[in-house]
Amino acid sequence: MNTSLKLLACCAVVLAGCATGSRSLPEFSTLSAQPGLRDPLVMLNGDRITTREQWEQQRRPELKAIFQHYMYGQIPAPVAMKATVKGVHRDFLDGKATLKIISLDAPNGGPSIDLLLVTPNNRPGPAPVFLAMNFCGNHALTADTRVPLTKGWLYNSCKGCTNNVATEAARGGQAQDWPLARLVERGYALASFCTTDIDSDRKEVSDGIYAWLAGDDAAKNNPTNRGSIAAWAWGYSRCVDYLVNDRDVDAKRIAAVGHSRNGKTALLAAAYDERIALSIPHQAGCGGTAPNRVSAALAAPQKNGRPTAETIKVINGNFPHWFNGEFKKYNDTTDKLPFDQHELVALCAPRPVLFSNAQDDQWANPSQQFEVLQAADPVYRFLGVEGLVAKQMPPHRQLVDSRLGYYIREGKHSMTADDWDMFMNFADRQFGARR
Ligand code: GCU
Repeated sequence: MNTSLKLLACCAVVLAGCATGSRSLPEFSTLSAQPGLRDPLVMLNGDRITTREQWEQQRRPELKAIFQHYMYGQIPAPVAMKATVKGVHRDFLDGKATLKIISLDAPNGGPSIDLLLVTPNNRPGPAPVFLAMNFCGNHALTADTRVPLTKGWLYNSCKGCTNNVATEAARGGQAQDWPLARLVERGYALASFCTTDIDSDRKEVSDGIYAWLAGDDAAKNNPTNRGSIAAWAWGYSRCVDYLVNDRDVDAKRIAAVGHSRNGKTALLAAAYDERIALSIPHQAGCGGTAPNRVSAALAAPQKNGRPTAETIKVINGNFPHWFNGEFKKYNDTTDKLPFDQHELVALCAPRPVLFSNAQDDQWANPSQQFEVLQAADPVYRFLGVEGLVAKQMPPHRQLVDSRLGYYIREGKHSMTADDWDMFMNFADRQFGARR
């Protein structure tokens, strides 16, 4: 090709990218299998990133486009929510904390988020905050009747929920797993909201943000192309919008936490929202912290017909509403995906990320999660900070508290008060001893 023709071809590619509003990413049919976790510092076109500027201006935008295009779907655009502080109670937890009840309301009948904020009374100045999405409603975190019962659809497995609705018996149903008093004693605030305020977690029903955005055009709200995790990540960011303006909260020390599907969400939110200073995707596994490329041994069906670790084929089958339509194309040819989850972690660099796990929760693939951190480590080092210091998985209960952190304990899939102690240990180290 002569030079002018080449130039013309280049312009056509650039224009095509502009016309669709996105960069042009390879189609499924043009991709070939790529076993293993690719080098995150290499662009899709093979160019190596050698400067911080290239990382910021080329590779990060490329990765952001990749995850939205192939996996999670577009994270809905920010919406200016109206924040109303409905109550401020300084006598919470025997006067040790202040309880704030906040409502964040989108205009025109859009989502309303009930945000619960608990801040310590014993510390001077604004407190670092854990922002955590919960499964069972804010009212499940404390028996205090000033916290409104969640109004939307809830899982019947949540204590005190009947016909998917919270009853008075639901109050404090998870209080033992959310150690509010311990958090404020150690100088932390906790902000929490419930998944259902954004998108109730059902494949057959869409009653949340996507239904609102689609308006009367139901075709815009295809259940297999919905992307609930992206919607929930949007929810984290709307809470951050509020938190950065609350004087009791340290806007520079917002940590996103979530368990399991909520952990997948916490990591996605941190990757796209740089105001989140630290993230803890706890037992997040497939579609979050575990690689899409599950090893053959762990993907092999066991006696019960299930693999040892969850694969994208399984997750897409059981939870089609979590990811977009594109992701399903890769169920049987996962190796063709031109990325893996270490690159989502890389989007968080240089900010701290902790993967925490449980021994009996092999479904979440704890051993390959460690490999994900190892594969993200070069980006942290490239940006001049410590990555993952551990060379191998640590013994149970020994926290690796480097910027890329890792933890595994005995026991099963759960988020307990002890896990919160460890989250605080990690945050202490990463936010600094004198917070
Ligand atoms: C299922 C699912 C996991 C998910 C978990 C949860 O087990 O397969 O991917 O993390 O639910 O959210 O509790």
